[in-house]
Amino acid sequence: MNKKLLYTLPFIGLLVQALRRDTAIRKYILKDKRIQKNFRALLLSDFHSSFYGDGQKKLTSLIDRLNPEILFFAGDIFDDKKAHKNSWILFEKLSQKYRCFFVTGNHEYWSMDCPYILKRLKDMGVEVLENEYKDYKGVRIFGINDPAAYSEDINTTDTWRQILSDLNKDCDEAHYNLLLTHRPENIKEYSETNMDTVLSGHAHGGQLIFPFINRSLWAPNQGWFPKYTSGIFRFKNFKLIISRGLCRNIFPRIFNRPEIIVLDFKKDEI
Ligand SMILES: [Fe+2]
Repeated sequence: MNKKLLYTLPFIGLLVQALRRDTAIRKYILKDKRIQKNFRALLLSDFHSSFYGDGQKKLTSLIDRLNPEILFFAGDIFDDKKAHKNSWILFEKLSQKYRCFFVTGNHEYWSMDCPYILKRLKDMGVEVLENEYKDYKGVRIFGINDPAAYSEDINTTDTWRQILSDLNKDCDEAHYNLLLTHRPENIKEYSETNMDTVLSGHAHGGQLIFPFINRSLWAPNQGWFPKYTSGIFRFKNFKLIISRGLCRNIFPRIFNRPEIIVLDFKKDEI
């Protein structure tokens, strides 16, 4: 092998790795004695009406292979600048097979189509959680609207804080309390609740992830070098899980593959 090629190959390898767009899988186990029966859920977020092949097959077949019981959609599944077609194809397929729980993101509101989107989702059997909860196998699943429902811009408002505080009154010691929300950055607000785990999206992994140091470049509401962009964060009284999301539209994702989060809920016998 000539020397030039030998030096070039690692760079080509790094570039290929940087621009990968195939979906990554990240798994977490949530164990608690209040969970009545083991089950698997997937966290899907920030799809932004992306294209995953004809009939969204690349994504739906991956979801089928992961064999979940329920699906959590953490907002921005629709987009305000793209047609909703890809999102509807996705929901038409998934809602027939799985119990789906959905909360809004800012882009659903910005699309100006939000009332229609929510109505059509409900008609399909998707459980839209608009500041309410549903119980499932010992887990109390809370869902809160995105702050954009109450704000002209992207900021979190006192109205939203009050809604979270009201929802918190339904946290129950006999249940594992889980909050489905679009925003990862409202740590202070979440820490003031009795939620055991918070599931979120919105940050798109920070768009560019610096390899080796695992820091991100930018995220909405967090700015440059944001902290809460992906993975799990363990706080004193709750866990925060953030999906990097599934968006494959114009902005390139660098060292930041789209992802599905697998959540295995397990009954802790102890
Ligand atoms: Fe968002």
